[in-house]
Amino acid sequence: MKYFKMTGNVNKDMKYLNEAASLLKNGQVVAFPTETVYGLGANALDEDAINKIFVAKERPADNPLIVHVATKKQLAKLVTHLPTYVEKLIEKFSPGPITYVLKHNGMCAKNVTAGLSTIAIRIPDHPVAYELIKLSDLPIAAPSANRSGKPSPTLASHVKDDLKNKISALIDSGKTGVGVESTVLDCTGKKPVILRHGGITKEAIETVVKVNHIEEQVEKERPKSPGMKYKHYAPDMPLILVDGTVDQIEELITSKREKGYRIGLLAMKQTVNKLEADEKVSLGTTETEVAQNLYRSLRILSKQKIDFIICESFSKKGVGKAIMDRLERAATNIIRY
Ligand code: TXA
Ligand code: MG
Repeated sequence: MKYFKMTGNVNKDMKYLNEAASLLKNGQVVAFPTETVYGLGANALDEDAINKIFVAKERPADNPLIVHVATKKQLAKLVTHLPTYVEKLIEKFSPGPITYVLKHNGMCAKNVTAGLSTIAIRIPDHPVAYELIKLSDLPIAAPSANRSGKPSPTLASHVKDDLKNKISALIDSGKTGVGVESTVLDCTGKKPVILRHGGITKEAIETVVKVNHIEEQVEKERPKSPGMKYKHYAPDMPLILVDGTVDQIEELITSKREKGYRIGLLAMKQTVNKLEADEKVSLGTTETEVAQNLYRSLRILSKQKIDFIICESFSKKGVGKAIMDRLERAATNIIRY
């Protein structure tokens, strides 16, 4: 695996980016940073290249990938039609952490979309991702660059831990910004439906267009976003998600420790300061920080000698919705007092 560390020196970095872009053009897979999490990219027009992503990640073949483009014009080339509300959403939120699911025109390789008639596309807001797409002059399919089922990578070292020697190159440009993935929005109907909560909140989307409220129903009956049915974000030990007061969390930790279990506590700084545990990781003081720190913290706790992770709950407003969605999927057990 080639390792390119972005230096901040434009000449040097452009040399690395050119090298990474030619790997992409040659059908190789390259991990690169976006504003949300690191992605594992390959040429979306090349079925063999895309297959390498599925093999490296051990990703189920029926879980389609998000295609990354640099401009609205490049996006429009892959779909049959852009609804007016999507034009407005692009105007307001792209480049940014929002993915549009639209009817495709057959241009991309079939395994990108897992044979569906729709395709998920986004314009990432990260200079490295932008340059890489521009230089390769290709639409780049890229799922999160983690081993399937594990927390998404927010540092290049996470990609190395999961995929070293299974990919051609890794571009390291430090920590990603948002920390949770993009919001996936089904835009095939008269109104959009949120398939996955993420960096752009429902509240923000609704300043542009009303969101349809069939999301829970959709998920139960037929997962419209095929990835949502799989196990996700799992740390290496059971995670108990607790919706209760600080006292109730304390009681739970005490009762587990009395049985001889070692406990890792995952919570906001305010809570971490009040409680005792065998290992403690603070998620920060605001929900924006919680989103940024969540996956890294799950990976840190996975490396500790503990039997359980006990994690506090968050409100499901704003980015809290995306955080709770990830935690509920990571949890082996949810306790609501
Ligand atoms: O922030 C992100 O979105 C990151 C960065 C790398 O861009 N990417 C990412 O990709 O999270 P991935 O593959 O880990 O998640 C893609 C999600 C999955 O839940 C998948 O099922 C859904 O998007 N998806 C992809 N194509 C779809 C389609 N045609 N219809 C419905 N859902 C789709
Ligand atoms: Mg993923």
